[in-house]
Amino acid sequence: MKIVVIGGNGRIGTKVVKKLTEQGHEALPASPDTGFDATTGRGVAEALAGAAVVVDVSNSPSFEDAAALAFFESGGRTLAGEERKAGIRHHVALSVVGTDRLQDSGYFRAKLAQERLIKESGIPYTIVRATQFFEFLGAIAASGTTDDRVRLSNASFQPIAADDVATAVAAAALGEPANGTIEIAGPERLPMSELVARYLTSIHDSREVVIDPDARYFGVRLDDRSLVPGENPRLGRIRLDDWLQQSAAR
Ligand SMILES: NC(=O)c1ccc[n+]([C@@H]2O[C@H](COP(=O)([O-])OP(=O)(O)OC[C@H]3O[C@@H](n4cnc5c(N)ncnc54)[C@H](OP(=O)(O)O)[C@@H]3O)[C@@H](O)[C@H]2O)c1
Repeated sequence: MKIVVIGGNGRIGTKVVKKLTEQGHEALPASPDTGFDATTGRGVAEALAGAAVVVDVSNSPSFEDAAALAFFESGGRTLAGEERKAGIRHHVALSVVGTDRLQDSGYFRAKLAQERLIKESGIPYTIVRATQFFEFLGAIAASGTTDDRVRLSNASFQPIAADDVATAVAAAALGEPANGTIEIAGPERLPMSELVARYLTSIHDSREVVIDPDARYFGVRLDDRSLVPGENPRLGRIRLDDWLQQSAAR
């Protein structure tokens, strides 16, 4: 089966392409690097020709409010139109657990707009909402850092390894469209401040984590429901400590 993976050279996309290829499928990475631009439509019809499934794991190059909204809205419209013409029978997209609860952030307003366009496109779809990636913990620490202190909320947090995300996205691409949203999360739920502190200790980063329930997560005040999945999420297999050990070994 030909499967177009938009953002197939990115953090999740590279792994999705590899997993689909290993299972005998023709997985085509599509991104500006390969002459494909979801926002302008450049190269889109050519890439979709003969494909059955589209997996969208792209991301906006800018997280600034207007730029992120423009990226996901223009990309969503272009893809819906081209996918209808190409007869795509399943569109799979990666989004974020809690997107609808994080609407004080422009980035998450843009992700919700992306989800809405998918639902309205008329193309059978599966939206996979993931919690934060382990690979994103460094960026979370950086976002809370002033001087040598990292101010972070102690709200519940359940991050997941990118490899587990890619496994779930590849499985969704090979399954029937859910015409709905599935949630995936890591195997452990702990306060964000505690997990980030564990991450910093393991990479020998001396910054001190300070708990501040009012600290914003990319502009959003968190509570214990904000970032964690609802009932019956699919859980990743990789625990943070094992991932840290593997990362250190690499
Ligand atoms: N970070 C998290 O913790 C988290 C949690 C849950 C869900 N997510 C979601 O996961 C998705 C993927 O994130 P990621 O970290 O894997 O992203 P990433 O590593 O930044 O990769 C983004 C990909 O998008 C491609 N791209 C950029 N502009 C494009 C365009 N105009 N048309 C087509 N492709 C374009 C890039 O292509 P080039 O390589 O050519 O630049 C790259 O391959 C995002 O939608 C994000 O919302 C993230």
